[in-house]
Amino acid sequence: MDTAAMLFSSSEKNLFHLMTGFFASKVLAVAVELDLFTWLSGKPRTFEEIRSHFGLAERPCRTWLDALLNLHLLERQGALYANSAVSEALLVRGRPDYQGPHVRLLDSLYLACHHLRSALLEDRPISRDYSYFFGPEADDSRVTHYSMLMHESSLAPAMVLPHYWDFSDSQVVMDVGGGYGRLCLTLVSQYPHLQAILFDLPEVCQKAGTLLETYPRGLVRRVRLHPGDFFRDPLPQGADTIIMMRITHDWPQERVAMLFQKAFSALPSGGRLLVYETLKDQGPFPGDAAFISLLLLLISPGGECRTFAELQTLLERAGFTNVELIPTIYFYGLIVAEKP
Ligand SMILES: C[S@@+](CC[C@H](N)C(=O)[O-])C[C@H]1O[C@@H](n2cnc3c(N)ncnc32)[C@H](O)[C@@H]1O
Repeated sequence: MDTAAMLFSSSEKNLFHLMTGFFASKVLAVAVELDLFTWLSGKPRTFEEIRSHFGLAERPCRTWLDALLNLHLLERQGALYANSAVSEALLVRGRPDYQGPHVRLLDSLYLACHHLRSALLEDRPISRDYSYFFGPEADDSRVTHYSMLMHESSLAPAMVLPHYWDFSDSQVVMDVGGGYGRLCLTLVSQYPHLQAILFDLPEVCQKAGTLLETYPRGLVRRVRLHPGDFFRDPLPQGADTIIMMRITHDWPQERVAMLFQKAFSALPSGGRLLVYETLKDQGPFPGDAAFISLLLLLISPGGECRTFAELQTLLERAGFTNVELIPTIYFYGLIVAEKP
């Protein structure tokens, strides 16, 4: 094959697609931001209808729609534009598998990605825009922005967790770094006997409290907020099951070891720690976790996706036994460890 043919070969991941990948993610992000797919759901529209609905001039509208067709996010039905099967299933607001929050979460790193080369060369977080808890800049709007993104994007992993682990034998669960309480609410709504402790930084707990007030009292009274800093403070006693969902990937190994030791001290004998995490060796496309590690390279001091074996070693060093892996969705794995 000559050079030009290799560059534009029809293989799915040809070099041209890699070079223009940032256009693809931005085209998708803008369509989600404008909620195009929800508006088109079940009702294909003409070019003119789309143009006038979004207030676009002819050239930008045609260019945008052509790009969406090329990405198989839209398809033509004669003169009409319709959602593709993927967009209809995953990008329509209100659907159980709606991926809009994930699209927004990753799009929020778009500018940070520009600094990838510096992050590689300097081995330090380059972006301060994304998260508040890695540095001293915990201003109110960052806390709210980040926590809301997490809250929205935690819907799917929180909803499926009870399919992979039965909490019937637990009396009190503690969600460490539980954000705005999505997982606590999911668990207490599915297990009427269960009490939950939500442990997070004071500024997050305060906002979680306000959000929780909007849920039915019967549920919320079984969720107790415990503000604290999991590096400076001990974890409170009282839970027989501790969960860390999407926590360990943020931190370097020695900090993860510290978190496991704190969980071990807080649990009673027979208690369990559930580490629910993006793993490097899980799911149908485990290589995709490399992109989450890149994200962490940009924003965190030492965070990365790890393998089950790496986390198992740290758990056993902290004193846990019977460490087992339960594969769940995407590249999430649930690691269950027991305090003897
Ligand atoms: C990646 S988010 C995960 C949130 C939630 N578990 C989820 O999966 O949606 C990390 C969480 O850890 C919390 N966190 C970060 N540093 C913390 C600290 N030192 N002490 C307590 N919580 C902390 C953050 O406020 C945030 O809610």
